[in-house]
Amino acid sequence: MKKNSKIKRRIAILTGGGDCPGINAVIRAVAKKAILEEGMEIIGIEDGYDGVVNNKHRKLEYHDFSGILTLGGTILGTSKKANPYRYAIHQGDKLVFKDMSAISIENIKQLDIECLVCIGGDGTLGIAYKLFRDGIPVVGVPKTIDNDIIGTDITFGFDSAVWIATEGIDRLHTTAQSHHRIMIVEVMGHNAGWIALHSGIAGGGDIILIPEIPYDLNVIAEKVIDRNRRGKRFSIIIVAEGAKPKGGNIVVQRIVKESSDPIRLGGIGFVLGEQVEKISGIETRTVVMGHLQRGGSPTPADRVLATRLGTEVVDLIKNKRFGNMIGIKKDSFVRVPLKDVAKGVRKIPLNHPLIKCARSVDTCFGDRHK
Ligand code: F6P
Repeated sequence: MKKNSKIKRRIAILTGGGDCPGINAVIRAVAKKAILEEGMEIIGIEDGYDGVVNNKHRKLEYHDFSGILTLGGTILGTSKKANPYRYAIHQGDKLVFKDMSAISIENIKQLDIECLVCIGGDGTLGIAYKLFRDGIPVVGVPKTIDNDIIGTDITFGFDSAVWIATEGIDRLHTTAQSHHRIMIVEVMGHNAGWIALHSGIAGGGDIILIPEIPYDLNVIAEKVIDRNRRGKRFSIIIVAEGAKPKGGNIVVQRIVKESSDPIRLGGIGFVLGEQVEKISGIETRTVVMGHLQRGGSPTPADRVLATRLGTEVVDLIKNKRFGNMIGIKKDSFVRVPLKDVAKGVRKIPLNHPLIKCARSVDTCFGDRHK
């Protein structure tokens, strides 16, 4: 080896799953600290795990991380379908799944990196765990508007989504009031009700329906009729896309066959709207907040959280704590094994203080609660 030759330290960053506000802020934080404090080079993997399977990546320079703190989406691109262990391939009319993990692992090894930083939700981090098990040094950063990742109290993207949903509820409040209508606002969150609970409380929703508490249509009707009797001639219902009636089913909007998690929820707002209008006799409209909740610039709280998580994860790499996700519990950093993160999703516990708090201000959860 030549006397002045240096071994270049290098990491790669990947963003997987649905985009959300704050991803670029994390990328920026990881990269700036890794470059400035560790003298590392940064490789950006393109389009999530699709870039791992198909060897799509680019070297990023310090200036690439300037001006992206406030930018929505992800500068690296993402994929909700690509999974190296179950990669969907179209063969004519047929869809087949192939295990592409061996080639993916080889592709990662060719990058000659110290670590692969995976920024994503439960699906992305579950795959990250498998890669770690198969010998790749990996660390994770929890990302999702759904706030449903095991091992952390909060995920970046959530505050922005709640802010956007609340803004929508506020605007619908005034039109509901003017027209004496029921307004149903469907929000995302997959199988967890965090966005509905927080935006519902923040927006003063009269009824909040979450997947964790199956609802009774009669209770909802009684509530809106009672409000009318008391002179409140409008009602606001916040419904999580994963909410369902007691003994009933979730509403599926589409099945994405290529995806490892193929069910896409959506449409409960319209189903409920028709039923509530019929049973209560009060004119009802439904608004679906949809992907608006994932778009645009992150809130200040998400920018701060993203920067905290992004800089802290570099310490995990420095200390070779691979196979872990950086999380936050009671406002302190925690190291969570990806093995635990991969076990499922974090739903709202029924004894959560916010449920109690909402009931205290007369918010109905669609159940008969004493
Ligand atoms: O996980 C984030 C999320 O936005 C969920 O809240 C929602 O159920 C899902 O992704 C929507 O997925 P897609 O972008 O495939 O429509």
